[in-house]
Amino acid sequence: MTFSRQFYRSICANLFFVNINLNSGRFRSLGYQFVCLQNQSTIKSTTKNDRLTDEQKKLIDSMIRVDQAGEIGANWIYKGQMTVLGGDKKVGPVIQEMWEQEKHHLRTFDEMIPRYRVRPSLLRPVWEATGFILGVSTALMGKEAAMACTEAVETVIGEHYNDQLRDLLHVENVDVEDLKKIIKEFRDDELHHLDTAVDYESQKAPFYSLLSTIINNGCKAAIWVAKKI
Ligand SMILES: [Fe+2]
Ligand SMILES: [Fe+2]
Repeated sequence: MTFSRQFYRSICANLFFVNINLNSGRFRSLGYQFVCLQNQSTIKSTTKNDRLTDEQKKLIDSMIRVDQAGEIGANWIYKGQMTVLGGDKKVGPVIQEMWEQEKHHLRTFDEMIPRYRVRPSLLRPVWEATGFILGVSTALMGKEAAMACTEAVETVIGEHYNDQLRDLLHVENVDVEDLKKIIKEFRDDELHHLDTAVDYESQKAPFYSLLSTIINNGCKAAIWVAKKI
């Protein structure tokens, strides 16, 4: 039995899911729940009736801001991929289906911004442009490279959502329950996109390792920036 790259990548994330693909015998990114003790949340515990502390409010603001920015980027990546590969009978419908889910994710965070009174990222045009360029350029390298882009992005986003769930673990305020539910649902969607990309041969992309590393690090840098700006 061999273990997939996703398994190794995810093992130190606080909450993640694994299931076994019986055909290939490989672990994939959906299934059982693990908790790494070294990653315990540092935010103060609350009960459902407690008011959020200033620190918790600040954390939630930055979560919603970065999540909306990430979903903007994801939408424009898929838009870029569809511009090039929309007519492809094999991957066109698959990319379109993932894009539809991204549209739902973005609509949800667009609604949450005013509801939670969060300042959105000031860099929206940057996330749109970089997402579109990334989607188009990887799609121009071929279907597999487009899927390698999806795999790299969704790996980072899946881990990012898991990090947020870990940080919210001890916050039980009613205002936060909805956010937790949304993050869990979207995390599962993103990990499903990751698995789809692998199924559509992301790992056969030209310069797969280099491409994955560049996109992976680019996404992490974008997350860092979008939390603040
Ligand atoms: Fe998404
Ligand atoms: Fe996604």
